[in-house]
Amino acid sequence: MKTIPLILMGCGGVGRQLIQHIVSCRSLHAKQGVLLRVVGVCDSKSVVVASDVFTRGLDDAFLTEICRVKSSGSSLSILGSKGGECQIFSNLESVKKVVDIASHLGRTTGLTFVDCSASSETIEILNQAVDLGCCIVLANKKPLTSPMEDYEKLVSHPRHIRHESTVGAGLPVITSLNRLLASGDPVHRIIGSLSGTLGYVMSEVEDGKPFSQVVTEAKCLGYTEPDPRDDLGGMDVARKALILARLLGARLNLDDIKVESLYPAEMGPDKMSLEDFLSSGLSSLDEGIDERVKVASSKGNVLRYVCVIDGSRCHVGIQELPKDSPLGRLKGSDNVLEVYSRCYSKQPLVIQGAGAGNDTTAAGVLADILDIQDLFS
Ligand SMILES: NC(=O)c1ccc[n+]([C@@H]2O[C@H](COP(=O)([O-])OP(=O)(O)OC[C@H]3O[C@@H](n4cnc5c(N)ncnc54)[C@H](OP(=O)(O)O)[C@@H]3O)[C@@H](O)[C@H]2O)c1
Ligand SMILES: *[C@@H]1O[C@H](CO)[C@@H](O)[C@H](O)[C@H]1NC(C)=O
Repeated sequence: MKTIPLILMGCGGVGRQLIQHIVSCRSLHAKQGVLLRVVGVCDSKSVVVASDVFTRGLDDAFLTEICRVKSSGSSLSILGSKGGECQIFSNLESVKKVVDIASHLGRTTGLTFVDCSASSETIEILNQAVDLGCCIVLANKKPLTSPMEDYEKLVSHPRHIRHESTVGAGLPVITSLNRLLASGDPVHRIIGSLSGTLGYVMSEVEDGKPFSQVVTEAKCLGYTEPDPRDDLGGMDVARKALILARLLGARLNLDDIKVESLYPAEMGPDKMSLEDFLSSGLSSLDEGIDERVKVASSKGNVLRYVCVIDGSRCHVGIQELPKDSPLGRLKGSDNVLEVYSRCYSKQPLVIQGAGAGNDTTAAGVLADILDIQDLFS
């Protein structure tokens, strides 16, 4: 049996779903001759680690208990040390402990760091882990959108890193691009709707519904972040665009990308409360959007909020696109990507499907972990 030791960073919606997938896939993985051994789980303040990481992981009952504690909103630090089978470290101690485990396991049994946090701070540990020979699997976009130097370090051993879920959640976006690139089929243009929220909003305003009404509906359906400005500002799309652009070889940083925000700076979270934004700010944007929808429609086009990667240029914002194109036909909250390369020059390669959700995201992470199993024995 091949064993893949793991440290999970982040135990929120995605991290917990990953734990559940790992536990429920035990017999499937055993049939494939693989064992996923979770040796540690971190939240923002603490880490719980198995006492002897060389021989065993946290058992399934305890992993389930971790999920229960975290979904009740508590910190990992409230877990007891459970008959000496595990240990808990907090704050600076926890970082030290994690690096210590990496230095013991990295070059012996191997170790995979799985980043399901939403933090920009994990990059330091991840880069140390890379130096110690560990593998990295990410759902967290932030390490990959950190400054170019950090990024290059992180991806310096391409066989040791997977990050499928950072773009399009479980959709095979990164894999498909890597296959094209590896076969010498240069990708020269990608245009994609990579936000479920903005995909939904832009397709709903097409039929004349006011922007404010659509955003409010999207919020009620649970498609948006608690503050919809986090989606409407476009930064999440910009991070995904940067990950794709870097994959294609562009040496860009996040602030090189032009990002169109759907609300003006004076309605930003630092200037206007969420209540005011929802009750009056939003509706003041209706007319402007409606105008643009009509202009586009008179030319047989629709508006989509997209990222465009063209050679080494990359921008994010609203574009007019033909109604009768894969992106133009988009309805609802799916992600859609059109990829143009030599082989796919007239008709693009199209990748479409749910691009968010704890379940699909965690499934993408799990598939990434299994994809590096050959590095373990
Ligand atoms: N949900 C989706 O549909 C989706 C899709 C694609 C990608 N993603 C990405 O997946 C990641 C996880 O998303 P989520 O919805 O699960 O987020 P979440 O619910 O906010 O959970 C984040 C978790 O990370 C922990 N954390 C914060 N800082 C940390 C640090 N420095 N080290 C270790 N752990 C830390 C948090 O700890 P506390 O519990 O102590 O706060 C929390 O447990 C995000 O980066 C997100 O962008 C999500
Ligand atoms: C993801 O998990 C979080 C935390 O458990 C939950 O609040 C959220 O509704 C889930 N999202 C989806 C789309 O299931």
